[in-house]
Amino acid sequence: MKLPPLRRRISPSVLYPGTPVVLMTTVNPDGSANISPLSSFWSLGRRVVLGLGTDGQGTANLAARGECVLNFPSAGQAARVEAIARATGRSPVPEAKRDMGYLHVQDKFAMAGFTPVASAEVAAPAIAECPLQVEAGLLAMHAPHGGTDQGFAIAECEVRCVHAHETITIGGTDHIDVHGWRPLFYVFRHYVGSGEPVARNFRAEA
Ligand SMILES: Cc1cc2nc3c(=O)[nH]c(=O)nc-3n(C[C@H](O)[C@H](O)[C@H](O)COP(=O)(O)O)c2cc1C
Repeated sequence: MKLPPLRRRISPSVLYPGTPVVLMTTVNPDGSANISPLSSFWSLGRRVVLGLGTDGQGTANLAARGECVLNFPSAGQAARVEAIARATGRSPVPEAKRDMGYLHVQDKFAMAGFTPVASAEVAAPAIAECPLQVEAGLLAMHAPHGGTDQGFAIAECEVRCVHAHETITIGGTDHIDVHGWRPLFYVFRHYVGSGEPVARNFRAEA
């Protein structure tokens, strides 16, 4: 008889089994653009859900203006994401972040070496270098207990339009070439790329 794998109860400090890295672009109160690296993301149909810290400038911008762009970087862009990881568009820097060495950065595009490009349906610019760019409008911001219990809010957004680099689409169609694009994932605070696809779902279109 085959024994089940040995297991033990653990208390991980974070529970990030693996979600894509998303660079959320929003418009600051002064009209400039901000980039907030996120990973708490999932989508269902035209709806996307984001887990957001309530002390983030991107969170405040999304709540105030009701729009954002969700830019998905490639695995090869991890260093650019990490370059702005300890930055916030918020000034003054919230105390908890100051203790972790965060700095206020007004222009994260310049810091990461990214280029803003005009969006079609929202005021926030997309990041030209990110192969997949999703423009979205805010439907609801859920902040359990006013967001004060854990400092998190949950944003529910509706997709308005999607842009993709030609290089990750299949020959002029709306399909993403999963053999041609390596998204960047965040797994237990490590940046991870994906390997070759291992199988396809019965609903994947040829
Ligand atoms: C890879 C990565 C993933 C992150 N995921 C999230 C997330 O899902 N939600 C969140 O609120 N913050 C997340 N953060 C932290 C924010 O990026 C951080 O709070 C940042 O200061 C936000 O910038 P802002 O204050 O200019 O919006 C993540 C950071 C990194 C580097």
